[in-house]
Amino acid sequence: MKVAGLLVLGGSAGDHIAVKLASILNAELGDIEVKKFPDGETYVRIQADVTGKDVVYVNSLQKGPNDLTVETLFTLATLKDLGAARVVAVIPYMSYARQDERFNPGEVISIEVLGRLFKSVEPDIIYTVDIHLHRICDPSKVFGPNIQNLTAVRELGKYIKRCHDVGNAVVIGPDEESEQWAKIMADELGGLEYAILEKKRLTAEEVVIEVKGGLNIEGRDVVIVDDIISTGGTMVEAIRALRRLGARNIIVAATHMLLVGKALSRILRLLPKDVVGTDTVLSPVSKVSVAPVIAEALRKDMGL
Ligand code: R5P
Repeated sequence: MKVAGLLVLGGSAGDHIAVKLASILNAELGDIEVKKFPDGETYVRIQADVTGKDVVYVNSLQKGPNDLTVETLFTLATLKDLGAARVVAVIPYMSYARQDERFNPGEVISIEVLGRLFKSVEPDIIYTVDIHLHRICDPSKVFGPNIQNLTAVRELGKYIKRCHDVGNAVVIGPDEESEQWAKIMADELGGLEYAILEKKRLTAEEVVIEVKGGLNIEGRDVVIVDDIISTGGTMVEAIRALRRLGARNIIVAATHMLLVGKALSRILRLLPKDVVGTDTVLSPVSKVSVAPVIAEALRKDMGL
């Protein structure tokens, strides 16, 4: 029997997670119609009956974030109008989080504007996963107190433990920001040693990676972990740097596999032992789902 009064809905980039979530939670799964008018405007129609229900709406603001953001805000703004009791917004990949500062005069701080838009549609809870907040460390400063930043890194670690022998490996974060994920991964893999590299970004696609002194990985296996792989520039340079230091097998893990253009083939050409990502962004390496992590948070916060 389904859990009474709980409805899961998926947007155009969240349906695959909504299906898993509904199955884990034994909840009703509803439909939403999303289409484009000839001029490019977005049309949304919530087909499920949401009256009096706790509605969990999932949409990942991944590739094509602008259209997906409009779709998401339109949907969230309407659920309560239609009589939903509580509304939970699950945004597995939160776009625009890397533009969290005015790097050059006149720039929009995109994540702050996005935060204001989310606050305006008043979801009761927002869950996101491994949001890239570097300079703004606390997402509630941007999205308000209802946001929770969940992590998929332990799920990635569980996959790695299941599929590989990493007993003597070292966990590496390719840049300063990734220390938070390297630390969690090292813990999940049984208390492995972890370290970070130094990255300087030259352009959106080019980075230079340097290795801090004292990192000895000669002949050792390495797990590299990051939040996002976009153009692949960071991961390619990290793999090259680690190979120069004599790393043996390299496993690449990241939560959000945006994998723009030839990113995946650039990485695969360097022959890592494995590349693993989650389904926040569907890709050929989405070997791990974030649905269990979201389900656990929902159970706890909604008393399911
Ligand atoms: C930024 O610092 C992130 O943590 C990732 O390292 C970055 O987004 C990866 O981008 P790319 O794959 O384009 O190097």
